[in-house]
Amino acid sequence: MSGEAIRIEGLTKTYAGSGGQPPKTALDNVDLTIPAGSVFGLLGPNGAGKSTLINILAGLVVKTAGRVTIWGFDQDRNPRQSRAAIGVMPQELNIDPFFSPRDALEVQAGLYGVPRAQRRTEEILRLIGLQDKAGAYARTLSGGMRRRLLLGKALVHWPQILVLDEPTAGVDIELRQMLWANIRTLNEQGMTIILTTHYLEEAQQMCDEIAIIDHGRVVVRDSTEAILRRMEAKTLTVRPAAPVGALSLPDGVNREDRADGTLAFSYPRSQVSAGQILAVLAAADVQIDDLSTAEPDLEDAFLALTGNG
Ligand SMILES: Nc1ncnc2c1ncn2[C@@H]1O[C@H](COP(=O)(O)OP(=O)(O)O)[C@@H](O)[C@H]1O
Ligand SMILES: [Mg+2]
Repeated sequence: MSGEAIRIEGLTKTYAGSGGQPPKTALDNVDLTIPAGSVFGLLGPNGAGKSTLINILAGLVVKTAGRVTIWGFDQDRNPRQSRAAIGVMPQELNIDPFFSPRDALEVQAGLYGVPRAQRRTEEILRLIGLQDKAGAYARTLSGGMRRRLLLGKALVHWPQILVLDEPTAGVDIELRQMLWANIRTLNEQGMTIILTTHYLEEAQQMCDEIAIIDHGRVVVRDSTEAILRRMEAKTLTVRPAAPVGALSLPDGVNREDRADGTLAFSYPRSQVSAGQILAVLAAADVQIDDLSTAEPDLEDAFLALTGNG
């Protein structure tokens, strides 16, 4: 292992159009490497291409062009080994309602050719907190339990790389915390984790490194820390009653006089507060008709980081 869990080169996926629709390029010449041992976040809005990328890694979607290397194995030349290195928790719930969690894990382990003596069914049931429900029909499980079972199914062959597609989309806080704890435990045991999310907070809390995908392209790839630093800017916008002259603003504050008569002050939120800027305005006897503040969200991050902001 060269320290890379995944290497993606020139990856393109064009879905054939159906029902009179034109073909859709979901991934456009993507290059990406994901370090072994990391928790890696694939961030992007709906339709960005996250699931397509993951489904290609999982062998569920056939790429149009490019090269994918998983745990050192070329996906085309060594399909069996590359598949064995990866476990995927899909976005949609697909659970057989007539299997108990224990059966579902055993069947899945069988599909992956895990010998009985090497199965970790009970350990996985404990990890996902379903040991009490191990023998119950899956149809009697709550939505949260089913989602945890999906995680368990991704683990039966104890892959080096665990991929989770929007693991916490639409789940309650308790389950989210539990999934996060599970993911951390697995990562501490050495598993490389790749997760997609459109929650910035999730990426912030969980991921060491992030790639932001938009319209099938990787627009940013950096450590979470570095991305957050770049997104630190907040903006205070005020509408003064009359034109405003020179102001002595705190260090780090940038003033922009906009054509609509408003003043926009951008400032690093860890160093300056809106109150400090308002105090400067008050000291200069500026009368304010209206004001608002804005924090960058994921959308702003895309714009700022791609240079379209
Ligand atoms: N099976 C498919 N056939 C045609 N188009 C698809 C298919 N799957 C996804 N797409 C399109 O590809 C784009 C990327 O989708 P997807 O990978 O699911 O994005 P994400 O997971 O980031 O929301 C979207 O425009 C979507 O409509
Ligand atoms: Mg998706």
